[in-house]
Amino acid sequence: MKWIERNETCWCGSNLKAKKCNCGISEALDGYSKKGYKIPKRSLIKDEKTIEGMRASGKITTKILDEVATLIKPGTTTEEINTFVHNRTLEMGGIPAPLNYNGFPKSTCTSINEVICHGIPSPDRVLKEGDIINVDVTTILDGCYSDASRMYAVGEISENAKRLIEVAKESLDIGRSVVKPLATTNDIGAAIEQYADLNGYAVVEDFGGHGVGLQFHEDPFVFHFDTGEPGMVLLPGMTFTIEPMLNEGTYECNILSDHWTAVTADGMLSAQWEYTLLVTKDGTEVIAY
Ligand code: MF3
Ligand code: CO
Ligand code: CO
Repeated sequence: MKWIERNETCWCGSNLKAKKCNCGISEALDGYSKKGYKIPKRSLIKDEKTIEGMRASGKITTKILDEVATLIKPGTTTEEINTFVHNRTLEMGGIPAPLNYNGFPKSTCTSINEVICHGIPSPDRVLKEGDIINVDVTTILDGCYSDASRMYAVGEISENAKRLIEVAKESLDIGRSVVKPLATTNDIGAAIEQYADLNGYAVVEDFGGHGVGLQFHEDPFVFHFDTGEPGMVLLPGMTFTIEPMLNEGTYECNILSDHWTAVTADGMLSAQWEYTLLVTKDGTEVIAY
């Protein structure tokens, strides 16, 4: 027993000592390790207290994303969305994680049309009919992080934009559906890429999902495409995001001179949705959406 000590509580969630548990995880990990898969450090497997904390944090993130919908209309500025996210987070006892994170100047990311992610809210950016926007909210509550984002339509949007938003959401759900104990991070990426391909969209490669829980960005990194490499084995109690960005045109992106805003290289539309997930005994629980 290399990965799990015999007297340790088994990682599978059975609450049995490893030597009494017959889930097979310990033996499976030895096999995976020999094949070159990354095995999560024990610290990536959250205890019940942390998971409870993340659920409470996730409720705030999800509620704010629900409420943001009411602001999405022509005439609203992204600064107003930022102020709303900031104030609601504080009112519910949380801290907006983006503010001052690696120098990010605002409390949420607002990414419109050709902006892939990390759009900076501004009083100068006014929503207009036909825009599509991603709002990304990350809450810290009692040290526990939850991170989620959604797409919103401003008034009537084009059929093309509608389909992109839908397929991006479906690709996230398909990525989620392959997650279970002993699946790997590369299974997630491969499933998302295949679905995007099938629908004629490109997957952004420069950003990925990530472990989340006691920090904003933890291991593992979750690629949204098939890297051709094994990736990390997933186990019950791991918490991470999946957050695929799908582009109408090229997968290539540029970063603007503000050092944050990522835009499609060809100016075509991009869409993204994000969940924070917990790996359970047989699948996932959504912590924030
Ligand atoms: N919320 C983004 C993510 O999903 C990260 C934003 S970093 C920030 O990982 F600094 F821009 F907030
Ligand atoms: Co994230
Ligand atoms: Co996010």
